[in-house]
Amino acid sequence: MKAAMSESIFRKDGTAQGVAKQRLIETIAKPDERVINDPYADRFVLGASFIKLMGHKFNIWLGEKIAPGFHEHLISRTRFIDDLIEKSAASGIEQYVILGAGYDSRAHRLELPSSLKIFEVDQPEVQVRKRAKLPKELPNSENISYVAVDFVSQSLTEQLTDAGFDQSKSSIFTLEGVSQYITKKAFSSTIEEVATLTQRVSSIFFVSYVNELLTKNPEACFGKGYPNAEKRVKLITYGSAKVGEPWISFYGAEEIESILSQNGYALKENVTLKDLNSRYFAPVGRALSENQLFHLEHFVVAKSKI
Ligand SMILES: C[S@@+](CC[C@H](N)C(=O)[O-])C[C@H]1O[C@@H](n2cnc3c(N)ncnc32)[C@H](O)[C@@H]1O
Repeated sequence: MKAAMSESIFRKDGTAQGVAKQRLIETIAKPDERVINDPYADRFVLGASFIKLMGHKFNIWLGEKIAPGFHEHLISRTRFIDDLIEKSAASGIEQYVILGAGYDSRAHRLELPSSLKIFEVDQPEVQVRKRAKLPKELPNSENISYVAVDFVSQSLTEQLTDAGFDQSKSSIFTLEGVSQYITKKAFSSTIEEVATLTQRVSSIFFVSYVNELLTKNPEACFGKGYPNAEKRVKLITYGSAKVGEPWISFYGAEEIESILSQNGYALKENVTLKDLNSRYFAPVGRALSENQLFHLEHFVVAKSKI
């Protein structure tokens, strides 16, 4: 009974709901204090009305009790990619492929040129639910194609090209909050496919990955004085496993750089919440202290060598 209930609530989208929840919490902050604004996030969150009623500050306080910095980590990841996409679009990139898009609404909430063609890739069940929950009238809908792919068992190339991906156009790919859920084999073959699809033109690849130190030496991932690092790691990973999406793949910086390099990408940036705290949270008066910071997940930007 319990299993059937949790299946009906989280059908492959438990973690996508979890990220949308943090975007909702950020969105209800005062406009001059928030780091991102996602007006669609509430549609994907169970108990969204209650979260709104409790307000931004209460939700932040509560999150801090459970895992300090976790909310800010997800929000800085979203904002970092938003900035990257806006910058790339302004410099004329022609296609954007969102790998494992989940309930991200970047394609609708950012001001992007109508010439930018966007492909949202995820598991079919998640896409069906997303489309059912989004409003019928949405900014930029005409430029978006939904592409159903399971990275573990299906070919990205075939599905993307069938959906109209043009191999002669410059492109950016983002794999946000996904690499920890798929096997290393599926990750490598996905990036190999991306490299082959874009071998004739310049491309950018963003990937977030979970630091392998998290399992080997959790304390090393956290800032000085971070409370009960090991216990918090267990709590975070337990939450994902509980909704049927365990973290199974962890990476080191050299390993990621080597996978990218083997596929013709040069690493340009590798940052974490620790680096982004001063960029995003300090300017709105919400800088985190050292004991709330971590290097748990890394955000990497790589550019093709051609
Ligand atoms: C934590 S969510 C992140 C969603 C979104 N990128 C965000 O940051 O809001 C992980 C996403 O990866 C997708 N995913 C996990 N395994 C996948 C697979 N084998 N094939 C395709 N998508 C997958 C899930 O459906 C989910 O949308």
